[in-house]
Amino acid sequence: MIRSRRETLGAHTLIRGDCTTVLRRMSSQTVDVVVTSPPYNLGIEYRTYQDQLPEDAYLDWMEDVCASVKRIMKDDGSFFLNIAGSSSQPWLPFELMSRLRKLFVLQNHITWIKSISVGEITYGHFKPLNSPRFVNRNHEHIFHLTKKGDVKVARLDAGVPFTDKSNISRRQHEMDRRCRGDTWFIPYETVRSRKEKFSHPGTFPIALPEACLRLHGAKPGGVLLDPFMGVGTSLIAAERKGLSGIGVEKDTRYVNIARKRLRAAIGTREEDWEDE
Ligand SMILES: C[S@@+](CC[C@H](N)C(=O)[O-])C[C@H]1O[C@@H](n2cnc3c(N)ncnc32)[C@H](O)[C@@H]1O
Repeated sequence: MIRSRRETLGAHTLIRGDCTTVLRRMSSQTVDVVVTSPPYNLGIEYRTYQDQLPEDAYLDWMEDVCASVKRIMKDDGSFFLNIAGSSSQPWLPFELMSRLRKLFVLQNHITWIKSISVGEITYGHFKPLNSPRFVNRNHEHIFHLTKKGDVKVARLDAGVPFTDKSNISRRQHEMDRRCRGDTWFIPYETVRSRKEKFSHPGTFPIALPEACLRLHGAKPGGVLLDPFMGVGTSLIAAERKGLSGIGVEKDTRYVNIARKRLRAAIGTREEDWEDE
């Protein structure tokens, strides 16, 4: 059992603790947007968390966490759940979504493309897989879950400019912007050293939670929650967009990295916490 500890950094609250218990203590209908990437149950080597539960236990646990998320979320809130399967466990994300059908409407299903080849040119970082059976996995899922499926999204804020500008007047668009669609190419930022990888095996790029916040139409002063904060990537996106972030993470070392990253983003300094 980990002792919870919390800190306020600017507009944000970072909590070292188990989200299963922390979320139960949070007030209902207080969060605008949830952006999170839980453990995928694929045996990823986190520092303390063992990412290999029996499948039913994993699904029960995730269902329980997501039920708390639903209670905490406002009725017009958005829950962006990033998850992936593997070649040997391709069904897992879909098994989870089938459980979550009882709780949420799947309003949008976005494919996060981490690398892509267009013609002969590859964009993004390509991690080779040497398999006689499987092709490389270059994508993950972002499930956009809402309570009733009727949340208005800011398609154009999250959109892209027209390539053919003649479309603007021809189709009477008010601005040079069209919907991006449901495939988002967001490569990892290039890192020059191991230190920049934050000693965490499964982060997402800051541009991913930023895109989710844009699609939701999140406004400054709104509240973002990440129950599986890791090294705080979604809280940095919240800081950049003027939202207050609440992040929960059970591993002290990851919380300390999140604290450092967030302090750098808002411009303050302080000492590390110790395990207790
Ligand atoms: C996929 S990572 C999240 C990474 C994050 N998106 C980032 O960019 O840093 C999942 C995180 O959940 C944490 N975790 C696992 N079980 C948890 C729990 N019960 N409560 C809070 N955090 C937990 C793990 O330690 C891990 O850092």
